[in-house]
Amino acid sequence: MTIRVTFRADNHLPPVIQSPSPREAAKFIAPVTELVGIGRVRKNSPLPLESEKERVAKILDELESYIGLVTVKRLIRELQAYVEIQKRRVVEKLIAEPLVLHMIFRGNPGTGKTTVARIVGRLLKEMGVLQKGHVIECERADLVGEYIGHTAQKTREQLKKALGGVLFIDEAYSLARGGEKDFGKEAIDALVKSMEDNKDNLVLILAGYSDEMEWFLQTNPGLRSRFPIHIDFPDYTLDELIAIGNSMFKSRQYELTLGGTEALRIHLRSLLNTHPHAGNARLVRNLVEKTVRKQAVRLYKKPSSSREELIQILPADITLEDL
Ligand SMILES: Nc1ncnc2c1ncn2[C@@H]1O[C@H](COP(=O)(O)OP(=O)(O)O)[C@@H](O)[C@H]1O
Ligand SMILES: [Mg+2]
Repeated sequence: MTIRVTFRADNHLPPVIQSPSPREAAKFIAPVTELVGIGRVRKNSPLPLESEKERVAKILDELESYIGLVTVKRLIRELQAYVEIQKRRVVEKLIAEPLVLHMIFRGNPGTGKTTVARIVGRLLKEMGVLQKGHVIECERADLVGEYIGHTAQKTREQLKKALGGVLFIDEAYSLARGGEKDFGKEAIDALVKSMEDNKDNLVLILAGYSDEMEWFLQTNPGLRSRFPIHIDFPDYTLDELIAIGNSMFKSRQYELTLGGTEALRIHLRSLLNTHPHAGNARLVRNLVEKTVRKQAVRLYKKPSSSREELIQILPADITLEDL
């Protein structure tokens, strides 16, 4: 299914993404079941619709399984419903809102931006908006070159890789840092041009710290209107960080003892008080990985270990060293 994107003449308004023509879309949104005889479903009943629905539901469930992110989850669900309903309106030949899906993700490192971008990519693929739904993550160094023409070429390379999916630009504000003469500006221009050239098969996500992204959009007013979806990723609270830590241990088949849980809480609390971006799941992941290695060193000293010992994390295993 192709989704058409039309750029408006003055180039300042967001592009218009149109769902498939009614006839084309009708192939996908057909009646779910057709009864033939009593209680029999025709063999070629449109199963794909059901499985698309199921696949979308699965991805949304996965999103739900992440700790916290309440507003983010609500916005992604809204987005999913919105895209679906615009598709249905097209089928009914009703005026459909223009679907502009480029996004700004604002938040500190480790707050789940990349994780959510991957989910968005997969979701839009299952919904037929994107062909592949993969995410290409890049930053200034991947886009900006060293001589005239180099930047456009580097940016185009990344765009080409991202086609059919999501181009996720981390710390996007750094593209505007050097001002008018900086090659970063060339990258921005190439990105904007590509949003036009690759109209119907690319979603751009610009990510970065809230304040910096706000400054970036203010200095590039033309950009703001091209990115209508803004999502804030707040820092995780202490309880959320503990829950994230617990789930990370569990998924690796480790278990915190009672003392281990207490030690995790104490360490994360001290981290929250000292680290500038402590509400940060990546720090928890580093802590979990470090802990697993410390447990290994402790157990290795003994000639053998029981299954229980291999699973259990003791307070002494948990440390904030080298985080
Ligand atoms: N809500 C969450 N629940 C569980 N793990 C999370 C959550 N948010 C982030 N993580 C984990 O933390 C790490 C950093 O997340 P990431 O999405 O890369 O953050 P960002 O892109 O904002 O820097 C990843 O390993 C991710 O799986
Ligand atoms: Mg990231």
